[in-house]
Amino acid sequence: MFAKEKERENNACSYENILIKSLGKGYQMEIKKYTNSNREAWNETIPIHIKNRKTNLKEKFKDKNYNTLDQYELDKLNQINVKDLSVAQLSCNNGRELISILRLGAKSGIGFDISDEVIKEANELNEIAKENCKFIQSDVYDIGEEYYNSFDLVYLTAGTLVWLPDLKKFFGIIAKMLKENGKIMIYEEHPILNVFTDDDNKDPLTIEGNYFRKEHWEHNSGNDYVGNTSYDSKTFYSFSHTLSDLFNSVIHSGVIIKDFTEYSFDCTGIYPDIAEKNILPMSYILIGNKSSNS
Ligand SMILES: C[S@@+](CC[C@H](N)C(=O)[O-])C[C@H]1O[C@@H](n2cnc3c(N)ncnc32)[C@H](O)[C@@H]1O
Repeated sequence: MFAKEKERENNACSYENILIKSLGKGYQMEIKKYTNSNREAWNETIPIHIKNRKTNLKEKFKDKNYNTLDQYELDKLNQINVKDLSVAQLSCNNGRELISILRLGAKSGIGFDISDEVIKEANELNEIAKENCKFIQSDVYDIGEEYYNSFDLVYLTAGTLVWLPDLKKFFGIIAKMLKENGKIMIYEEHPILNVFTDDDNKDPLTIEGNYFRKEHWEHNSGNDYVGNTSYDSKTFYSFSHTLSDLFNSVIHSGVIIKDFTEYSFDCTGIYPDIAEKNILPMSYILIGNKSSNS
């Protein structure tokens, strides 16, 4: 059974490599097809998030002691010691997490996100928070050379990887953005959650998906995980990545994995029924270090 899965995975990996090499520009266009559509769809969803959010972030960030980080990420960030670091967050959404890291003593922060609407909100929040942050509208795949060798820490959080069609390319860019000895910290949803039903009428642990899924998801049912409403949305494309996809993408980028911790805590807050069982890994934190010869 294991050997068969392995064979399938190896075939898929080599297929992916052949695709990248042989299609070249066509492959780039394929990536853009997905990310451009997601940009439109995220732009549509952000005003809905803002309307439905119960926390008034503009009020909260006036208080210099306010931050949105939870205990798990705070513990790891304190271990890293972010004091005086230059930090980048990719897929930073409205910037609340990056602004919060600046409040732990980081020197500067640059947040990148594909959505024009979230960058607008991030700039508004930062004007109030008055931290040394800058927010830039960009597809993560378009981050340019001007940001290479620039950061001590690249930080990624819940709901970043699922929107990205190519993890190897993504971590290749991150490795270039890091200074020598720079670190990455990823606080993400555990991919095992992809296998469970999203039908509210079934036992939440009913398995309906395939952990090794290769096809993308395409959906138009909205993405209002803030207000928990649904609407007919523009098309979102998302992608399934196993832990081995993640580890191999990080390792191949030249970043050495230093620490990996799984938690039964749900960092997305969107699986309360599974989280209350307290029996599965629901989130993880990975910390890596750019090796001097990458
Ligand atoms: C669920 S949020 C995750 C960020 C953060 N953890 C949060 O909870 O706000 C996903 C973000 O990824 C951004 N995104 C999706 N695809 C992207 C891409 N190709 N390049 C840059 N940002 C992207 C979206 O615009 C959105 O703001």
